[in-house]
Amino acid sequence: MDIKISPSALACDLSRFGEECQAMHEAGAHMIHLDIMDGHFVPNLTFGAPVIKCLRDKSPIVFDVHLMISRPDLYIEDFVKAGTDIITLHVEADCDIAAALEKIRGFSVKAGLSLKPGTKIDAVLPFIHLVDMILVMTVEPGFGGQSFMADMLPKARYLRDNYPNLDIQVDGGLNDITSKLAVEAGANIIVAGSYLFGQKDYKKAVRELFEICTQSAE
Ligand code: DX5
Ligand code: ZN
Repeated sequence: MDIKISPSALACDLSRFGEECQAMHEAGAHMIHLDIMDGHFVPNLTFGAPVIKCLRDKSPIVFDVHLMISRPDLYIEDFVKAGTDIITLHVEADCDIAAALEKIRGFSVKAGLSLKPGTKIDAVLPFIHLVDMILVMTVEPGFGGQSFMADMLPKARYLRDNYPNLDIQVDGGLNDITSKLAVEAGANIIVAGSYLFGQKDYKKAVRELFEICTQSAE
């Protein structure tokens, strides 16, 4: 599977949100990870579809939207109309998961399904045929800058062994060391927030992380 780097904008300078997205595009990032939090599904608040709509004009980068909200089903259309390319919802969300995934795909947008650290991999398996990507959380969702949970890697391993062509994204605590472990376990899309945005030279940072991951995948 192709390795892809998705910097998490949660760690960017949000007063320059559009420029930061475009800077990561110019740096070679394959997509930008946009974390949507509702203060209910997770104990933190970020932003919604209107912000994404404004960002759309600022950069052609792929928008990889991670919905950490209790009712993703109610907002799918808004996120699609705002210009989202990938919509990931949580299997723990309070809605009909299959219907929500079908709705996303009905708009010809890629659908992802995520699971929290405490959720067993079995929870996502009934929906695998409805998704383009599984997002394995490697921290408790809600905040950037937390420590990577290596004990989540068997989930990625299980998915890669059983679904060789599935995109497997990992999110939380990813850096040059932990990304290598994640790729070795079978992940191919690396979300990294504080690690990438914390570096001065985005181009160098993205390229080096991509190289580390590509080498680990061989
Ligand atoms: C956490 C978010 C992550 C977060 C990752 O709930 O889903 O995308 O921004 O941040 P880092 O890479 O700093 O752990
Ligand atoms: Zn995320």
